Amino acid sequence: MKKIVFAAAAAVMIIASAGASAATDGSGDPTAVKSDDGKWSDKDGTPTFKIEPDGTVDWYTYVGFNRYSSECLRCHGPDGMGSTYAPALMESMKRLSYTDFYAVVAGGKQNVSASQELVMPANGENKNVMCYIDAIYIYLRARADGAIGRGRPEKRAAKPGAYTKAEDECMG
Ligand code: HEC
Repeated sequence: MKKIVFAAAAAVMIIASAGASAATDGSGDPTAVKSDDGKWSDKDGTPTFKIEPDGTVDWYTYVGFNRYSSECLRCHGPDGMGSTYAPALMESMKRLSYTDFYAVVAGGKQNVSASQELVMPANGENKNVMCYIDAIYIYLRARADGAIGRGRPEKRAAKPGAYTKAEDECMG
C-alpha cells in the first residue's frame, strides 16, 4: 500500500517538473525570487532577470543589453541572435548553465581546423567584460527565455545604489 502512495507522489513530481520546463534554460527555472538591492536571483541563487508586466526591465538586464552590444555584438550579432561567425547566444543559453557561461567568457574557446578558425576570446583580464558578466548573463537569459524582445529595452528600473558601488570597486 505504501509503495503505491510513493509511486503516485513521484508521478505528480514528474508532471510538475514537465510543466515547468517550458520556462527553463541551462540554469533551470529563471523565475526571479529574491532581490539583492535590485539584482535578482532565482531559487538556486543564480542571477536572473525581472520584467514587470508593463515591460520595465530590471537595471541589470538593461546594463547587460548595453554591454553585450559593446563587447559581444560584433561577433555574436545584434540581440544575441548570432552571425555567420559566432553562435546565437540566446539559443546557447538554453543549454549553458551560469558556470558554463562564465567559464567560456573568462577562458575563451576555440574551434580551429583546416576549414575554419572560430575563436572566442578569453576575457578574464578584461574589466569591461568581467565587471559586467552577471548583467550580460542576465540579459541573455531574458532573451533565451523570450522575456524581452529585440533592441534596447525602453523602460528600466532605477539604478540601485549597490550597483554603482560594485561597479566602482570592480573597475578600480
Ligand atoms: C572576436 C569574436 C567574438 C567576440 C568579441 C565574442 N565572442 Fe563569444 N564566441 C565567438 C566564437 C567564434 C564562438 C564559438 C567558438 C567555438 O565554436 O569553439 C563563441 C562562443 C561563445 C560562447 C559559447 C556558445 C555555445 O553555444 O557554447 C559563449 C557563451 C560566448 N561566446 C559568449 C560571449 C560573450 C558574452 C561575449 C561578449 C562579452 C563574446 N562571446 C564575445 C566569438 C566571439
